Amino acid sequence: MTSHPSSPRSKLSLTDLAERKAHGEKLVMVTAYDHPGARLADAAGVDMILVGDSAADNVLGYDSTVPVTVDELLVLVRAVARGARRALVVADMPFGSFQVSDETAVANAVRFIKEAGADAVKIEGAGPSLSRVQALVGAGIPVMGHVGLTPQSATMLGGFKAQGRTATKARRLLTEARELEAAGCFAVVLEAVPAAVAARVSDTLHVPTIGIGAGPACDGQVLVWHDLLGLNDRKPARFVKRYADLSTEIQRALEAYAADVRSGAFPAEEHTYTIPEDELELFEAATEEREEAPQADG
Ligand code: KIV
Repeated sequence: MTSHPSSPRSKLSLTDLAERKAHGEKLVMVTAYDHPGARLADAAGVDMILVGDSAADNVLGYDSTVPVTVDELLVLVRAVARGARRALVVADMPFGSFQVSDETAVANAVRFIKEAGADAVKIEGAGPSLSRVQALVGAGIPVMGHVGLTPQSATMLGGFKAQGRTATKARRLLTEARELEAAGCFAVVLEAVPAAVAARVSDTLHVPTIGIGAGPACDGQVLVWHDLLGLNDRKPARFVKRYADLSTEIQRALEAYAADVRSGAFPAEEHTYTIPEDELELFEAATEEREEAPQADG
């Protein structure tokens, strides 16, 4: 993960990210779950691609992020890693893959790095997650933290709602973020946190904060691919900005294709291969001869 300024395609390094924060330059992160998505994000100059456990509901059809497994995410991380030449690829560790023990956390994270080609992993929460962060960093695996609304424990947090909205809770959030930094995280995601609280956290930490629903003072922002591009049906959260309405565009294209197939308008001549006239005559003569020849009993 060394950076070579002369080559624009080389991987960003963790030092590059820290330097960006030091220079007040914003970091751009987006989720992606496949190879074309990774290539597009990379070509757009996105700094980090998160293969989020949000793949569970966005691409795998689960109702929440809880059921998705390491094996399911490994396939997606592999595809993304093959497409991301410059952007850092962060693999989200799914529910159950790091909660049990430091050992299982390291074993699963190693799979994301070694088998799938991720550059780093992300784990949700503080408290018990702190020893996981230390174990992972100790094993040489870069870790991104995630506090505020942590969807894997949304039930315990009282549902999908903003966190840190009282002085006590905001102080706890700041403490958690500091502890994650002290444990070795190279960046911390702040999700659904009041902008003023996120600003204080961002000011306090030396490592970059990446906000999602955490206001403009964060050192970077992350959005979910399907939210940003208008690829899902559900009502977007308050913090989502849609930059396209691809669902409508895809639906329109598919309906046009179906209509063309049914009417015979597709495929047209330009979509069709030809054979030289003399070869066609030979082919037709040969097939006619064979059809006329008596069939052997058998
Ligand atoms: O899984 C995910 O997409 C995430 C982002 C919301 C940060 O964790």
